[in-house]
Amino acid sequence: MHTPPEKSFMLTEIARLRGEGNAIILAHNYQLPEVQAVADLTGDSLGLARQAAETDAEVIVLCGVEFMAETAAILCPDRRVLLPELHAGCPMADMITADDVREAKEKTPELYVVTYVNSTAEVKAVSDVCCTSANAVEILTKAPADRPVLFCPDRHLGEWAALQVGRTDIGLYPGKADIRLWPGFCPTHHRLTLEDLRRVKKAHPEAKVMVHPECRLEVCESADVTTSTSGMLTYPAEVEATEFIVGTEVGMLDPLRRMYPAKNFYPAAAEKMVCWNMKVTDLESVYNSLAQDRYQIAVPREIADPARRAIQRMLSG
Ligand code: 13P
Ligand code: SF4
Repeated sequence: MHTPPEKSFMLTEIARLRGEGNAIILAHNYQLPEVQAVADLTGDSLGLARQAAETDAEVIVLCGVEFMAETAAILCPDRRVLLPELHAGCPMADMITADDVREAKEKTPELYVVTYVNSTAEVKAVSDVCCTSANAVEILTKAPADRPVLFCPDRHLGEWAALQVGRTDIGLYPGKADIRLWPGFCPTHHRLTLEDLRRVKKAHPEAKVMVHPECRLEVCESADVTTSTSGMLTYPAEVEATEFIVGTEVGMLDPLRRMYPAKNFYPAAAEKMVCWNMKVTDLESVYNSLAQDRYQIAVPREIADPARRAIQRMLSG
């Protein structure tokens, strides 16, 4: 049986290796508490992309899933970007390929492609602009009004964001709607139903409901706020409520409880809302990543250059 090194040893080594290698550790809000605790910075997908773009560090250890490390590698081609666990993928990112987008553009050459960052570098490279859950509404507001939009790969985020900007001609791809939604989804968020929310709301009638826009539309519409993981970290400070139902991956509960010890947070469906890809990275993975310089994520230049344009268009707003 594998015995991991002592925790205190790993913490000391992580601090030493990070300093010697001029490395920065970035962790997504869903990461295990032990990983968030050693991170220099934590955040949502947009925050991590911005931090990667701005850092002076030579090595970026990205504790999250592969598309996040790829985004960092695209934005920082001269740095080493490490993903501590190679198999940390995002199932939604694999629900569309670059060939799918090319085919859609061949059929409708004027198509404007808005791609959620939860996608592969290849798909970003054939897209007009990227977005995250934190800025999808803003990005769709700025989409050319005279061109049909393909929003991919998350149908739920696309539908919710399009409705926020007052677009009504929305339909699943293929079709002729102004906003065409690729039929991808996040398996973790898709599992949350209105029935689940009603059950937990019955148990905590005073609680405010926060959900992620990757949830089904009816779930988003019944919530008090639909927002990114970072939006969920600020919302409890903006309202007087002391109880909250959290409709996203269960990893969010830990940072929320740490930030607001006087408030109560309840998972909307604890057993259903686990993204295992976000849980494979632990303290030992971070230690091994720094100690063994693994696993480097590099994106070939011919893909990175056009993908960077789509990401930069998002970052420069
Ligand atoms: P955020 O950008 O809101 O952190 O979401 C990323 C994600 O993968 C949600 O499932
Ligand atoms: Fe992908 Fe969903 Fe996991 Fe986020 S929670 S990384 S969208 S599978």
